[in-house]
Amino acid sequence: MAQLKVFITRPIPEEIRAKIAAECEVDMWHTSAILPPIAEKIPPLDGLMTYGHEPVSPEMIATSPNLKVISVVGVGYDHVHVETCRERGIAVGHTPGVLSDTTADMTMALLLAASRNIVPADKHVQTKQWLYYDPNILWGYDVHHATIGIVGMGRIGYAVAKRALAFDMRVLYYKRERRRDWEEELGIKYVDMEHLLRDSDFVTLHVPLTDETTHMIGKAELALMKSTAILVNIARGPVVDHYALYDALREGQIAGAALDVTEPEPLNIDHPLLGLDNVIIAPHLGSATIQTRMKMATMAMENLLAGLKGEQLPYGVLQPNF
Ligand code: DGY
Repeated sequence: MAQLKVFITRPIPEEIRAKIAAECEVDMWHTSAILPPIAEKIPPLDGLMTYGHEPVSPEMIATSPNLKVISVVGVGYDHVHVETCRERGIAVGHTPGVLSDTTADMTMALLLAASRNIVPADKHVQTKQWLYYDPNILWGYDVHHATIGIVGMGRIGYAVAKRALAFDMRVLYYKRERRRDWEEELGIKYVDMEHLLRDSDFVTLHVPLTDETTHMIGKAELALMKSTAILVNIARGPVVDHYALYDALREGQIAGAALDVTEPEPLNIDHPLLGLDNVIIAPHLGSATIQTRMKMATMAMENLLAGLKGEQLPYGVLQPNF
């Protein structure tokens, strides 16, 4: 496949890059610090591996008349214009499953950090304000025996439910199609969105980004939540209307938020959310562990190489020829 050209949008582990390079010509963008050019300045491609969320638009796709496969290093593929790929017969792959536990761990990390004030506590000590034991500072909220409302009960939602149960939490969930099998297996309860928002101490978001889920948490939804509730978004930034969230946090309509994803990413340096002390924000780290990122890169490589050969992708989203 030496003549086939592939572009990788950010550095992936060298051993994976080398395996791809053994089979085709690879151009890999050298840094994460400057956005990759994914249309101009690169020759027409046979394969594209996206490691990041820059839009792969119809215009970008049009620059590569022979594009055979787009391999996403990640489970979410909302940045890829799948309709154009369908029309053009381009295969699209992603990396589901392998990151569910890791992302669920991060959900719990954010939930615990927000409820127990871990970030302000660390700042308190690091800025040398810890001068005596003060029993009256940084009181948080109990996690154990609290109610968690999981929005989106897919692989990640399921893994979050299992962790929440280990904390003796009461688990509510909302999903378009009920998972009665998981209700039975885990003892979790299906409720509608309104019930979930009203009843939960913690609301965690795990839905894919679609037209339907864009801004699904806005002013009206935040108004339904308890004033003691904490919102965790580890799905996609645009699932939450950030200006409505800012108002809700500033006015104490909800107690706090922990975001692993934002709209846009990164947030502009003067974004109002950055000035609040009841929000913590991580730079999109849900699946960022050494083990999981290696597995994701491996799966993405397998998708890419299969797609270049015209074979069925092992982890396909869209496989027009199969
Ligand atoms: C995913 O897997 O979708 C993460 O957001 C990383 O892209």
